[in-house]
Amino acid sequence: MSSSGMPSVDILGKQIASVLADPAITHGLARTLRAAAREIELQRSHRTSRRSWPNGRINGKPTKIQIGGGAHRIDGFFNIDLVPPADLLWDIREGVPLQSDSANQIFSEHFLEHIDYPRSAKHFVHEAHRVLVPGGRIITGVPDAAFALSHYPGPLDSSDETIERWYTKRDCRGDINTRLDLVNLVFRDQDDDPTYTPHLWAYDHEKLDQPFTEAGFNTVEPWTFDPTIANPKRRWGSVYVVATK
Ligand SMILES: C[S@@+](CC[C@H](N)C(=O)[O-])C[C@H]1O[C@@H](n2cnc3c(N)ncnc32)[C@H](O)[C@@H]1O
Repeated sequence: MSSSGMPSVDILGKQIASVLADPAITHGLARTLRAAAREIELQRSHRTSRRSWPNGRINGKPTKIQIGGGAHRIDGFFNIDLVPPADLLWDIREGVPLQSDSANQIFSEHFLEHIDYPRSAKHFVHEAHRVLVPGGRIITGVPDAAFALSHYPGPLDSSDETIERWYTKRDCRGDINTRLDLVNLVFRDQDDDPTYTPHLWAYDHEKLDQPFTEAGFNTVEPWTFDPTIANPKRRWGSVYVVATK
């Protein structure tokens, strides 16, 4: 806390905003500062939620939870994300804000690759194990690195299905035109949107299974895609597992 009473991290946020507004800022510094500004903003909303739940656990006991659903809310689930329209804005890197042995099902897709591995990814999986009841299940889906790598090397034309499905609406579409770009998508997506959290780690079935097995789940199996829960656009090029406590 500064002498003005404003948290020092918020003062830093204002300073970064003013540096970013300077037209003379170099591209490299702007990229780095935008990432810091985003983390400061996320910390602010996490801090606001944390004030309501100082011990890091909400009072209620929702039994079905979606983590990192973004705009894809699931009816009947308690949706937790960094950003609206979630039911609770929470940074999962700080833990899962639920009581131990309280949830029957956790669902998350295209979320795990956005948090750092191993620290945050393994912490998340351990937290999921803590909050699930015995017999409870967590379903996790991520972009399938094995799928992207299996197409490399190989010919690619501009109407390639992978590009069409993954990039049609992206600003960087015109610059994505080789098989290696599709490998890059899985490993380091994405630079064209300054508000987007990039991919921080790539997974195939083996790598996705590993943290759940290590965390003590009894079984970890492939999950059969169910579009009544999952985002239908994730069916293609993704790998899912279901882990049972
Ligand atoms: C690529 S989107 C996927 C959205 C949705 N699951 C889908 O498949 O359409 C990744 C989501 O994870 C959320 N997310 C990323 N890091 C997070 C964190 N540390 N805590 C909570 N949510 C996070 C983002 O805000 C975003 O909504």
